[in-house]
Amino acid sequence: MTVVLEGRNLSRDYSAKRGMFSPMATVKALKGVSFDLEAGKTLAVVGESGSGKSTLARLITMIEEPTEGTLKINGVDMVSATAADRKRLRSEVQIVFQNPYGSLNPRQTIGAALEEPLIVNTDMPAAERRKAARDMMARVGLRPEYVERYPHMFSGGQRQRIAIARALMLRPKILVLDEPVSALDVSIRAQVLNLLAELQNDFQLAYLFISHDLSVVRHIADDIMVIYLGHAVEVGSREAIFTAPQHPYTRALLSATPVAEPGAKKERIVLQGELPSPFNPPSGCPFNPRCPLAFEPCPKEMPPLDLKQGRKVACWAVPADGEAQAVPSRMS
Ligand SMILES: Nc1ncnc2c1ncn2[C@@H]1O[C@H](COP(=O)(O)OP(=O)(O)O)[C@@H](O)[C@H]1O
Ligand code: SF4
Ligand SMILES: [Mg+2]
Repeated sequence: MTVVLEGRNLSRDYSAKRGMFSPMATVKALKGVSFDLEAGKTLAVVGESGSGKSTLARLITMIEEPTEGTLKINGVDMVSATAADRKRLRSEVQIVFQNPYGSLNPRQTIGAALEEPLIVNTDMPAAERRKAARDMMARVGLRPEYVERYPHMFSGGQRQRIAIARALMLRPKILVLDEPVSALDVSIRAQVLNLLAELQNDFQLAYLFISHDLSVVRHIADDIMVIYLGHAVEVGSREAIFTAPQHPYTRALLSATPVAEPGAKKERIVLQGELPSPFNPPSGCPFNPRCPLAFEPCPKEMPPLDLKQGRKVACWAVPADGEAQAVPSRMS
């Protein structure tokens, strides 16, 4: 097992205004998040909109620096790395966004878009670059001659294939996928997920796969990190998370996803209220104002992310291994 990406205690603050006339305040978009991503594996990061997922993506792709914490790529610390190391490591981590239209220049042919990373980062001769672009088109399931076309001539699913192709031109080891199928129709979604699984296998890629929807990562994830208001609240294997979710927030997210077997019954937990403002997060456990299990310690003290029931979970109501008290199976 090779860890290609290691995050420790990553935090990111922003200063922003709550309203036009209010003074600057601090938003803690990410708070002390740690994870390991292994070569060839997928770590899914799941949470509602505003929970800090894209912030994490920006730290990993070095678009922004963490306010606190360390990030290592192939064992090299990104913050203290030399400029040359940073440049090299930067090309090992690529990102695919939810909306590929935003990342593709409408006036640039697809061929030019695919060749651009090679022009900037390598001295590959033009003829080889052109061949590499056409080969990658075929690899993502598009006709090589489409390199002559412009972004608007493709469907949403095809454009996402192009964005994936572009991200792979430098043969990265790590791909950050920020809601890569959220804008696509359900039928197209499965095709793009299948393509991602094939490419992972062929290129031994590690994926950090971001989604607001747990059901999207059901087949592709090896491990899952659930985040809430910038905090990791549950981290474990796909099996642990899907078969026996422990954190009340994970259980609520899971109850909102469609069931696999038709006719199967399951508990339905409706999340009360909205994600609180990150300007003014609740004290103690950040989930306490919405939590159906909240009890006395919850608003007072932040629960630690502890190993319990075969995964890490931050919740006072989840018993430590060997402790008698069980999490109530039904939440009302
Ligand atoms: N550049 C920024 N300036 C101020 N606040 C930001 C900035 N980027 C993100 N935020 C805030 O940080 C929080 C997390 O945002 P984000 O990482 O985009 O969440 P997600 O991707 O999970 O929807 C949100 O409250 C968002 O408003
Ligand atoms: S610590 Fe308390 S409020 Fe937070 S999730 Fe657990 S039971 Fe709910
Ligand atoms: Mg986002």
